[in-house]
Order: sequence, then structure tokens, then C-alpha cells
Amino acid sequence: MAELRPINPGELDAFTDVVFGAFGERRHPWHDRWFHQQVAPGITMAAFEEGALVGTSAALPMTLSVPGQRCAAAGITAVGVLPTHRRRGLLRAMMDAQLRQARAAGTPLAILWASEGSIYGRFGFGPAASRLRVTFESPHNALRDPTVSGALRLVGRDEALRLFPKVYDRVAEDRPGMVIRDQLTWESLSADDDPNLPAAEAHHFFVVHGEEPDGYLIYRVRPGHSVFGSQATAVVTELVAENPGSTADLWRFVLGLDLVTRVEARQRPVDEPVLWMARDPQAIEVLRGISIWARLLDVPHALQSRRYRQEGDLVLEVSDPFIPEVGGRFHLRARDGVGTCAATEEPPDLRLGIAELSCGYLGQICFGAMARAGRIDEVSRGAATRADQLLGWDPPPWCLDDF
Ligand SMILES: CC(C)(COP(=O)(O)OP(=O)(O)OC[C@H]1O[C@@H](n2cnc3c(N)ncnc32)[C@H](O)[C@@H]1OP(=O)(O)O)[C@@H](O)C(=O)NCCC(=O)NCCS
Repeated sequence: MAELRPINPGELDAFTDVVFGAFGERRHPWHDRWFHQQVAPGITMAAFEEGALVGTSAALPMTLSVPGQRCAAAGITAVGVLPTHRRRGLLRAMMDAQLRQARAAGTPLAILWASEGSIYGRFGFGPAASRLRVTFESPHNALRDPTVSGALRLVGRDEALRLFPKVYDRVAEDRPGMVIRDQLTWESLSADDDPNLPAAEAHHFFVVHGEEPDGYLIYRVRPGHSVFGSQATAVVTELVAENPGSTADLWRFVLGLDLVTRVEARQRPVDEPVLWMARDPQAIEVLRGISIWARLLDVPHALQSRRYRQEGDLVLEVSDPFIPEVGGRFHLRARDGVGTCAATEEPPDLRLGIAELSCGYLGQICFGAMARAGRIDEVSRGAATRADQLLGWDPPPWCLDDF
């Protein structure tokens, strides 16, 4: 029988070893720094067998932008079970403890990035935000209008870390899904000693837009050569902009870089503006993936912790097989942007699981599609469309942070 408990301060080293053993990756001093800075023993839940640490998880105390507001969230991370101890229920036991603990602490929401999409649905998580990978094979003539009109400046890392957070925070005010970053997170971002990057392309460049910064770009260059000359790839790590002018200029800049014949941007929002700036939209390769998975831990608390653009009422009958007390029948009422939500005996409009409700929590339009897929039940006619109108948000959720 496994013992489950948070680690002691002296066990962080063994904890880190198990995480890397589970992922089959080599541990690097860079990772140790991250674990020491971010993983306080009290936020961990580990599994021990015969005294040995064999399973790990942690819940980072995070703040996430949700529609129109910020909300506390448990950021589930460092989840791993040693290959020798798998499929015996250790992950299930750790998730149960971790999620119940976060709920007991009053955190209405848990979020995570999944290594595999088939793991977390059973624990009540649903894919709540998408990301696009956008690739330009002929970047130099990709745009309808390639002329940069505003002021751009290449800055050093220290200046970037001073200027960029303010832009990011302002963008997050109206964009759900963004992790509100603390100083430590900013400092660990885009570091040139990131062991996950080949040395030749590990250097990051930082560009700021505007005298009063209203947009920024972080990119690196993957060198490449052929008989035709340089064939480098510019990899956009982050392009965050507050208005159409800064968005356009930063894209124009990176797509116009000399010696670069390919531009790749990975964590882009589903409403990526550059798709509408293109001269030939069919010439851009777009791949869609999932970024964060969300899991409501307290339905009324979570639904009252975000804002609403439409007025309306909806009665939701929510089932939660993993934490049954989270489920129930709830009346959501939205007026003047504010939601109130309480348990009710009224007949339901929509019957759905906690994972399905969590899919739409950050404003993603998904309830109509889930009803058509037979994944949720419309009890009253048109209830799924009404759920999309009530819970949907423009702009849609976007998360840049993989934690
Ligand atoms: C994913 C991982 C943590 C699962 O741990 P585990 O202790 O074997 O999981 P459990 O035995 O508690 O399984 C719980 C359930 O999840 C399922 N499951 C576990 N891993 C799965 C996987 N990789 N894919 C699909 N289903 C999985 C089990 O079949 C079981 O299903 P059931 O509830 O229907 O019986 C472990 O395989 C691992 O460390 N993988 C590598 C690292 C990783 O991907 N971590 C996740 C980071 S987000």
C-alpha cells in the first residue's frame, strides 16, 4: 500500500529525480533551479512505496486571467510515476488528494498542460484553450502590407524583463487563459541556458514596440544553410501586442528578417491576427493543439469568479464522478456582466459532466459542438447555444505558459 504525503524539505532532490525518471529525461542544473524556486514542499503530493519516493505531483498557486477577471488556480505540474510503478493507481490517488486539497483551500479551479491528451479527462479536466502553430515558408512576401510604421527597438534581456511584464499584464486584462507571471517566472523565461534548446539556437532576441511600449516580441534564430545561402528559421517564442498597430509591426519585423527563409510561431492564439494580415492565407501552415486543461473544483465559486458579456439564465446539471460533491444542479444568472450561481431544484436546461463544463469556462465556444457530438444533453431546446452565448468570450482563451 502506497503512502501519500507532501515531501519534506530534504526530499526535494529525490522528488526532482523521480520527475525526470518518469519523463525519461536527463536532469540539468537549470531544472534544479526551477524546482528550488517554484516547488515548495507544501504544494507537493508524493507517493512512497516501502519508504522510496515513486510518484510525484505539485499544485502551484497560480493566478489565471479568466473572462473579465483574475482567478486563483491550482497549477498541477511535475506529475510523474516511475516506470516500475505504473498502472497501480498512484496517479489516481495523487490527483484525488491534490484536487481535494485545493478545493478545501477554497481554490475554485485547477489547470494543467497535459503530456498526453488521454490522461486527465477521467479526473474531470477538459481542454479549455487551444493554441496554433503557424509556419511561413516564404515569410518575405507573406503580408498584404509589409511596411513597419512604428518604432521598434532591440533591447537586452534586463530591459526586456523590465518593460515586457507591463504589456503582458495589460493584454491579460481582456484575454482569458493567461497565467499572471511573477518576477521569478519572467526571469526563468527565455533563458539562453535552456537545456531543451540546441546551443546554436538558444539565444533569445527581444524587441519592443513604441516609445511607450505597447507590444513586444521574443524570438530566436535556428541557423540553416544550403547551396542557395542562408536558410535560417526564426522561431517566435512570444509576440504579445496591445493594439492592431503594434501587432502588425512586430509581425512585419519578424517576417522581414534578412537571412531568414522560414518563420515558425508555436503558442499562438486561435484568433491569431497574422492569419488576417496575409497576402495569401492559404500559404500559411496552421496546426492546432491544446494548451491548458481546466477543472472546476467549485462550480458556483468558479462561475462567479468570471464576468459575462451577455445577460441570461441557465440551469446546469453537472455530474462529477471523480469528486461527486462538486456536482449538482446550479442556476447561473448573468446580469450587468456579473454572474450569480447557486444550487437549485429547478429543471435543468443542460446536463453535462464537470470536464465538459470546464471546457467552456475560459470562454471557448464549445457547447453547441459538444451537443452535436452527443457529449452533453440539451434538456431544453437551444440550451447549448445559449451556454455558448452566456459563457463564450471574445477574445478566446490563450495561454503562453507551459508549466
Ligand atoms: C501518466 C502517469 C503519471 C500515470 O501514472 P499511473 O500511476 O500509471 O496512473 P494510474 O495507475 O493512477 O492510472 C489512472 C488512470 O489513468 C490511465 N492512464 C494512466 N496513464 C495513462 C496514459 N499515459 N495514457 C492513457 N491513460 C493513462 C490508467 O489507465 C487509469 O485508467 P482508469 O482510471 O480507467 O483505470 C505515468 O504513466 C507517467 O509518469 N508518465 C510519464 C510522465 C507523464 O506523462 N506525466 C504526466 C504529465 S502531464
